[in-house]
Amino acid sequence: MEQISYDYTNAMAQAVGEENGLTEDELTQALKNFSALPAGLEKLRASGGADYMNLPYDAALADRISEFAQAGRDRFENFVVVGIGGSSLGNRAVFEALSHPLYNLLPPGKRGGPRMFFPDNIDPELVSGLLEALDPETTIVNVITKSGSTAETMANFLAFLTWFKERCSKDFSEHLVATTGAQKGALRKIAEEEGFETFPVPAGVGGRFSVLSAVGLLSSAFAGIDIHRLLAGAARMDRRIKESKPQANPALVAATVHTMLDRKKGKHNTVFMPYAQCLRATADWFRQLWAESLGKKFSSTGEAVHTGQTPIAALGTTDQHSQIQLYVEGPNDKLITLIEAKQFRKETVLPDLYPGEDALSYLGGRTLNELMAAELAGTRIALSSAQRPNTTIALPRLSEEILGQLLFMLEVQTSYAGMIYSVNPYDQPGVEAGKIAAFALMGRDGYKEKLAEISGSPNPPKRVI
Ligand code: PA5
Repeated sequence: MEQISYDYTNAMAQAVGEENGLTEDELTQALKNFSALPAGLEKLRASGGADYMNLPYDAALADRISEFAQAGRDRFENFVVVGIGGSSLGNRAVFEALSHPLYNLLPPGKRGGPRMFFPDNIDPELVSGLLEALDPETTIVNVITKSGSTAETMANFLAFLTWFKERCSKDFSEHLVATTGAQKGALRKIAEEEGFETFPVPAGVGGRFSVLSAVGLLSSAFAGIDIHRLLAGAARMDRRIKESKPQANPALVAATVHTMLDRKKGKHNTVFMPYAQCLRATADWFRQLWAESLGKKFSSTGEAVHTGQTPIAALGTTDQHSQIQLYVEGPNDKLITLIEAKQFRKETVLPDLYPGEDALSYLGGRTLNELMAAELAGTRIALSSAQRPNTTIALPRLSEEILGQLLFMLEVQTSYAGMIYSVNPYDQPGVEAGKIAAFALMGRDGYKEKLAEISGSPNPPKRVI
């Protein structure tokens, strides 16, 4: 199987200067210090603390999901994912990376599955827009929530449930599938009572690490994506990581580069910039993974540390005309990771229509593929010349196996970074605080004290103009 590569040449002092890049000594010493992390993560995995790492091997679940999707693909015209955060971003990432760019506009025979929608917001216009535009008779909704209680997801679920109950001529229960915590949570109880099909979110897998569980696999299988190949790619990366020495372990080297540049060289932001339109949602997925996992107030031993690099999602070449000016000439506080697709699934050749026009003639007979590669190389040169540290993840092609490798590498990289920062990358107390405040403000039972606390907030809006 082909494999992805990680090029960190331009994160080194030799390329971007000592103030901005790592010296050979700094890197060698750091990798020596961190050489026990892979074994530490394996130990955690063995004790059930990093169960996401075992997801690539759950062939029985992948078979069950494939069978379920096979039966529903022709029956439904629309598939709606109702979830938020880690219960939605991975779905969109896999779908966009591996589907036709205008999938929803294709005729059914060419799509390979129902049209896909990912409304990860409670915007009333978005939700009523979907309810107006879709036909409940031909729509299936996958409600995804590990906790079974996230306000946004439960609210959208209620809106769709009522829609089905009121407008479906036959048994509506076949139009809903719940992917939720195996043991507890309101959604599991309701699903059991109403007779919906359910798939589990394993207890030891957090939302943002769940893309390779039923959370991400069900929508992917409905869209005709080969989930077995996706998992095989992730398993391949798992083996590569296990078999590599520290300096050849891409997840460990990437975690080292990120955390060292953050701590030692002031690169407190990290930009994830794919040069492939289909990876735009992967950048959003990574942004959440890096932000929620590493942005922590307390270390694992309870000290206030306020860790975390701010992740920024960008897209090449689009954001060359929006962000790159800042990256090249603004504050030198970023590490930029470019994602290079070595091979696109299509080639577009440009005609030589104006051989006498300098501004166009050089494009004649060339391909968009070549132009994309030149733009990426140009950005890398511009960044390096301005002493901006940058790395490149090269994908030999855009396929299930390669995406599986990429997702798994980024997850393990995040785990290692959590260990380096000495924080717990698997919790999200800051998110929970917001969830609890919203419950209180909406008058949920059991949150009266919280409401009183919030109502006494010392900052009433006094400076509004
Ligand atoms: O990564 C996470 O843990 C979060 O982003 C959750 O996925 C998100 O808050 C939704 O939670 P739940 O799946 O419980 O609805």
